[in-house]
Amino acid sequence: MDAKNTFQLLDDHYDELRQLVAKFSDAEVGPLAKKIDVDEELPTELIKKLGEQGFLGAYVPEAYGGAGMDYLSYSIIVEEISRQCASTGVLVSAHTSLGVWPILAFGTEEQKNAYLPKLASGEWIGCFCLSEPNAGSDAGSLTTYAEDKGDYYEIQGVKNWITNGKEADVAIVFAKTTKTPNYKGISAFIVETKTPGFSVIKLEEKLGIRGSSTAQIAFDKVKVPKKNLLGGLEKGFRVAMATLDGGRIGIAAQALGIAEGAFRYARKYSTERVQFGAPISQLQGIQFMLADMSTKIHAARLLIYDASQRKNRDLPFSKQSAHAKLFASEAAMFVTSKAIQICGGNGFTREYPLERYYRDAKITEIYEGTSEIQRVVIATHELKEVK
Ligand code: CAA
Repeated sequence: MDAKNTFQLLDDHYDELRQLVAKFSDAEVGPLAKKIDVDEELPTELIKKLGEQGFLGAYVPEAYGGAGMDYLSYSIIVEEISRQCASTGVLVSAHTSLGVWPILAFGTEEQKNAYLPKLASGEWIGCFCLSEPNAGSDAGSLTTYAEDKGDYYEIQGVKNWITNGKEADVAIVFAKTTKTPNYKGISAFIVETKTPGFSVIKLEEKLGIRGSSTAQIAFDKVKVPKKNLLGGLEKGFRVAMATLDGGRIGIAAQALGIAEGAFRYARKYSTERVQFGAPISQLQGIQFMLADMSTKIHAARLLIYDASQRKNRDLPFSKQSAHAKLFASEAAMFVTSKAIQICGGNGFTREYPLERYYRDAKITEIYEGTSEIQRVVIATHELKEVK
């Protein structure tokens, strides 16, 4: 689909940015996408190039070494990269939304100066350690503990499903500083992953986004200086929830990119594949599928750009980011499935990229809040509106 005119109200510079990112994505990411999936690894050289382009610090102000763009620009970057490779797309998204943003939003000046320039340039990669083996959707029930030792905190616990866990230099870590059974005792910390006691104990073998690392991480008496407390003592749950509000826009943009990539492939195929004496694109059965795919992609894009613009304008966007993620991830599942259907047996083979798009789409309904959690968030906001 031509994304250029999707949002008529957008300034031209967004189209210019899209063209620039698309050119990079087509030239540098697309040719590696299959290998990234098969090798289950993102090339270090590619991560370096993403940093050089400014794609790893898109909305970090120039004063901290970032590209000084806005949140919509960031969504376009994630979308265009994910159109070619969802594993690369989520490296950008998890790094920026979950590793960088909390420091930008809640960090002290000292923390921002210490971490943002390295993260924005891609010299360092960020990750977000919230989930645990027994605390997934119920994030407030986490049990990792940070004990106050005077000059420092000592963190003990295990974290699960950590995107970028293998590559990360910096982790935003959530731990209880008071032993409460709910979210109230949670604090957030900036932890350098080279700190003794921080170790990746397992890398998950996954259905999709195989090039993106998903780590289980152990914290064994990890010493964190007091100055690395982020957002205030026992304010960690708010940090986590606010971060995820933005993260969900990034994952929605990833889902949109996956859907767009699969759609373009199937649409072109339909014009080339001849059956019954004509390209299958002339069959109404195929046209109806293309029309439904196109409609869902367009609707997802509008929701994502709306949530991004609200964030740009400092308007509440928690409900809108949940709308965007819920809709875009389900659209990605629909579109990638139909794309395979259009390409028939060919689409089912590994010679074609569609089975990869289909496998990659699934995680967007799960991470950074399942579709069910998005529905909880949306319904909670709606019910608050009852007068
Ligand atoms: N922004 C700021 N604060 C928020 C907030 C938001 N969006 N949502 C809730 N809060 C605050 C509330 O105001 C409340 O604070 P006060 O007590 O001070 O008023 C507090 O948080 C608790 O709110 P709730 O009672 O609504 O919390 P809850 O325990 O019922 O949980 C939930 C709500 C929506 C289910 C939440 O737990 C949630 O989002 N769960 C899903 C977690 C998730 O997305 N995990 C993914 C982890 S990241 C990942 O996937 C790994 C990766 O690397 C990609």
